[in-house]
Amino acid sequence: MAATIDQVLSQFTPEVKKVNKHEGKTLKAGFIGTGWIAEAYAKELPLLPDLKVVALSDLIPGKAEEFARTWGIDNVRFYASGAEMIDREELDLVFVCTYNTQHAPNAIYALEHGVNVLCEKPFTVTLEEAVEVCRAEKKSGKLLSIGFQPRMDDNMRNIRKIVESGELGDIYYIQTGGGRRRGIPNSTFIEKKTAGIGALGDIGCYSLDLVLRAIGYPKPLTVSGYTSAFFGPDPAQNNPADAARFNVDDFGAAFIRLEGGIILDFRIAWAMNIDTPGDTILLGTKGGLRVPSTDCWNGSFEKPMKVYKTVAGNNVEYEIPLKKTPEGLFYRKIRSFMDAIYEGGEAPVPSAEILYNQAIIDGIVRSSEVGREVEIVIPEI
Ligand SMILES: NC(=O)c1ccc[n+]([C@@H]2O[C@H](COP(=O)([O-])OP(=O)(O)OC[C@H]3O[C@@H](n4cnc5c(N)ncnc54)[C@H](O)[C@@H]3O)[C@@H](O)[C@H]2O)c1
Repeated sequence: MAATIDQVLSQFTPEVKKVNKHEGKTLKAGFIGTGWIAEAYAKELPLLPDLKVVALSDLIPGKAEEFARTWGIDNVRFYASGAEMIDREELDLVFVCTYNTQHAPNAIYALEHGVNVLCEKPFTVTLEEAVEVCRAEKKSGKLLSIGFQPRMDDNMRNIRKIVESGELGDIYYIQTGGGRRRGIPNSTFIEKKTAGIGALGDIGCYSLDLVLRAIGYPKPLTVSGYTSAFFGPDPAQNNPADAARFNVDDFGAAFIRLEGGIILDFRIAWAMNIDTPGDTILLGTKGGLRVPSTDCWNGSFEKPMKVYKTVAGNNVEYEIPLKKTPEGLFYRKIRSFMDAIYEGGEAPVPSAEILYNQAIIDGIVRSSEVGREVEIVIPEI
């Protein structure tokens, strides 16, 4: 049975109350899109006393008003689009919570009008769009962060720390990915006009970030990619009404060459006839790391990671104890973005990194279309 929204959102719920360390300051915020994921932000508002939501926008009439009622957001103005809200309000920041195809136009519009942006994932649909957003960010001097909350999880952060410790030596091969035996979403996720891409953008971007972040986001060079959709459009496998409009990928796989001679082997699925497409593994010259297969969108894994080494000819393995992240991931995602605005720091999830994530996804789509390996060319920002 599908999880209720409360069950899903409770996974992001902070366990500790936070105080405002920027006493006396507040940031004025607006939402672009008040759909499902905007609720995960709204849930954190009581823990963010220095965030004042002054405006809400949604293309669907009455939706923003209903959102305000549900989440007890008072003294707020409503708009029929993100652009109209930006034109009429003095905002410090916006949360871009629209479906994927509206990420780039809204992020660009906000940046061009001097507003900081926390944009939901996937960054964009195409590499071209991502480049345009990065250019707008650079020109604006404002902050842009991308909504990859699994990065806020302490176990996820540990992967990078382990790689940086040198314990694994030089990483030369990575296998990553994830997916569900059956777990095709619906609503705005399954049509090109709103989502642009399917499983690749919905959950593939997280799997890529999990490992690329750990190794410092080397530049992607080439990709041989594959996408398919054997389940989403099949009325025997999916709700018939959803099957009839389904026109994105529900599976993707790729072999990606990264700068530094590193190979990345990747796969992602919304539906497949197997329990898991495998653990994430990082092979290094001195050690290997196994990250147990995870539904990585919420940043959690249930089993500990394992390091594999050979010491004086003896094969040894040890577990990395699981950490419990003391705060909710959405809380950390918003708080770290706000702190970076106050302190003038780097974005918690910088676009310069996620540009490479998007370039890989874009390369997989292109390679799949032409049926051969393609080069990844990232224009100057
Ligand atoms: N971080 C996460 O864990 C997570 C989880 C789910 C979804 N998401 C991402 O969040 C985004 C939204 O997903 P969702 O499930 O909330 O979708 P949704 O369709 O429920 O909500 C999107 C809303 O945006 C509105 N909208 C679109 N363009 C707009 C515009 N120009 N101005 C104002 N409103 C506009 C739509 O009318 C809609 O109500 C997607 O990109 C998705 O990938 C992230």
